[in-house]
Amino acid sequence: MNLLLLPMSSFLVAFVLLCLGLNLLGFCDASNDKSFVFSGFAAAGANLVFDGTAMVTQDGLLELTNNEANIKGHVFYRTPLQFKESPNGTAAQSFSAAFIFAILPAVSYNSNNPVISTDGMAFIIAPRTNISDAGAAQFMGFLDSVAMNQTFAVEMDTVQNMELRDIDNNHVGIHNGSMFSLDSHPAGFYRDEDGTFNSLSLISSDGKAMQAWVDYDGQAKQINVTLAPMGVAKPSKPLLSNFSDLSAVLTDEAYVGFSAATGPMPSQHCVLAWSFAVNGPAPPIDFKKIPKLPNSGHHEALVKDLEIGLPIAAFVLILATCITVILLVRRHLTYAELREDWEVEFGPHRFSYKELFKATEGFKSKHLLGAGGFGKVYKGVLPKSGTEVAVKRVSHDSTQGLKEFISEVVSIGHLRHRNLVQLLGYCRRKGELLLVYDYMPNGSLDKYLYGEDDKPLLEWAQRFQIVKDVASGLFYLHEKWQQVVVHRDVKASNVLLDGGMVAHLGDFGLARLYDHGADLQTTHVVGTMGYIAPELARTGKASPLTDVFAFGTFLLEVTCGRRPVVDTVHHGRKLLVDRVLEYWRRDSLEETVDSRLQGNYNVDEARIVLTLGLMCSHPFPGERPTMRQVMQYLDGDVPLPELTQADKSLLSLTQKQTSFDQSALQYPWSGTSIGTMTPGISAGR
Ligand SMILES: *[C@@H]1O[C@H](CO)[C@@H](O)[C@H](O)[C@H]1NC(C)=O
Ligand SMILES: *[C@@H]1O[C@H](CO)[C@@H](O)[C@H](O)[C@H]1NC(C)=O
Repeated sequence: MNLLLLPMSSFLVAFVLLCLGLNLLGFCDASNDKSFVFSGFAAAGANLVFDGTAMVTQDGLLELTNNEANIKGHVFYRTPLQFKESPNGTAAQSFSAAFIFAILPAVSYNSNNPVISTDGMAFIIAPRTNISDAGAAQFMGFLDSVAMNQTFAVEMDTVQNMELRDIDNNHVGIHNGSMFSLDSHPAGFYRDEDGTFNSLSLISSDGKAMQAWVDYDGQAKQINVTLAPMGVAKPSKPLLSNFSDLSAVLTDEAYVGFSAATGPMPSQHCVLAWSFAVNGPAPPIDFKKIPKLPNSGHHEALVKDLEIGLPIAAFVLILATCITVILLVRRHLTYAELREDWEVEFGPHRFSYKELFKATEGFKSKHLLGAGGFGKVYKGVLPKSGTEVAVKRVSHDSTQGLKEFISEVVSIGHLRHRNLVQLLGYCRRKGELLLVYDYMPNGSLDKYLYGEDDKPLLEWAQRFQIVKDVASGLFYLHEKWQQVVVHRDVKASNVLLDGGMVAHLGDFGLARLYDHGADLQTTHVVGTMGYIAPELARTGKASPLTDVFAFGTFLLEVTCGRRPVVDTVHHGRKLLVDRVLEYWRRDSLEETVDSRLQGNYNVDEARIVLTLGLMCSHPFPGERPTMRQVMQYLDGDVPLPELTQADKSLLSLTQKQTSFDQSALQYPWSGTSIGTMTPGISAGR
């Protein structure tokens, strides 16, 4: 397929050139004091503010993105311009912009690759110059910025994104304070000669730049956007003409500039020249001074040879083929996955990316269930079966440890227990792993414990049942399955509630994925502050008993309705277990039970759970009960042993040291905390 594209792309270039017609130069009228013109950017640096990959090249070309994937670049004229008639005025003034731009695909037309570029660029007017909060790819470096509601933009978009309601993969769109365009049109221009519409490719497959104009009439409240190839005068009929008032969106003073971003395919977004004026026509650009695009000499030489005598019908046919091929390749790219030989055996658990993409409507943000742990979780409905699922996107760059992880995931997929979140399968893409789980309609337990998202308070009976459910799930992982599965991240936010409020333990084994990349010199422990057993922090080795430790913290959390670690004003970081111990010593353990229950709880059960919480939190792993014993205590089959005074002081002492040593660091890939400890300091003696 790629080989075919070589001659085809060359023909396409010739075709576009033949269509260009007469070379007419456009000139504008006089300028005023609120205007500027850059016919090339060689000397413009001081007047501009750069962000991301944006820079001026040696040749004076303003390069917004270089040939890299998933990057963004912004450039703004340094001085803000007055867009309202008077300071604090209400009506937006007229303005006009003219610029010459080029979108160069990473791979030029004469190589074996198709002409594709992601994602696009835009001329923008924004309330500030720092919009680096916005994303790359489909957001083009500005669409999802918090400043978007005060931003006007004209986009040149070369990717069709359904989520953003794009009309095609080669359009110009107007944005007035919204990430969705007010109006858009496939790229092209109306010829002045006969009024016919000529399509243009925003991607400069012929290595030539393109002209664009953005005009706003403050009185008529009309926005015009016009496009034309180089050498064609500004067409009198604009490509887009829209009546819309910019007064509500533009701030008093605003900054004019450009934003561009690439997605998975590297591309170069360039501006060759730019002029702008408020309340007047944009000053004329000096065409003699505009910089050359990279490799343009080479393009022209090749094109001349091809220009002679090729029938237009053939071009049209080839053009159509080209577009079809591009569309197919684009489709292929959208759904691209990684598959390796070793995955064959896991076949049945493998989901196709297309299926997951459709299930979540392209990972729309409205389907986002939460972000945390190891990535974002989306709700989806599988297209074939209609099953509701939760899809977790975990970013993972290395393949190190991935094979073991996936085989573990798949074997875990065979684990079936009413108190585990069922893993249905996975899918793998470049830098990303997608895990598909049963959907849990009532969300995670921590939301209920801390009254987030207006969740109702859980009664004691429900809490006690949840504690038993989780214990049962963990017991199954530790002892009932053919091999011992260590969960590694037991905590309230990993406990999910189904429609009947039955608790399911989720996310097992995931922490392990990140263990493999750990630096052996300094032991990085994957886990969450307050849940990390001292020996885990010291050696980095997880075991069923480190899970028991975390489960102990979980028991206290559920009973007391408090987070395991609290930062206090006067006493620094305080562990929940210390607080419970204090009350224990005063023999008033019941006072630690969540006060929001207003005394409505079973005293005996609460005492069992709290005592068990302390036993599981014991600094010495050997002193902690196993999950089997925990189950027996919770079911009342075996009476709980008394905690001795020695246990109590030991617990307290070690916890203090642990809390001191567990410095919370954030891994860049998630909100998970890690404790880093120096061997020896916290041995607990
Ligand atoms: C504009 O409004 C701000 C705040 O309301 C005020 O401080 C300022 O004096 C006003 N400027 C003019 C020129 O009216
Ligand atoms: C927009 O284009 C129309 C012609 O379609 C023209 O009458 C109008 O003056 C233009 N407005 C601006 C602001 O250029």
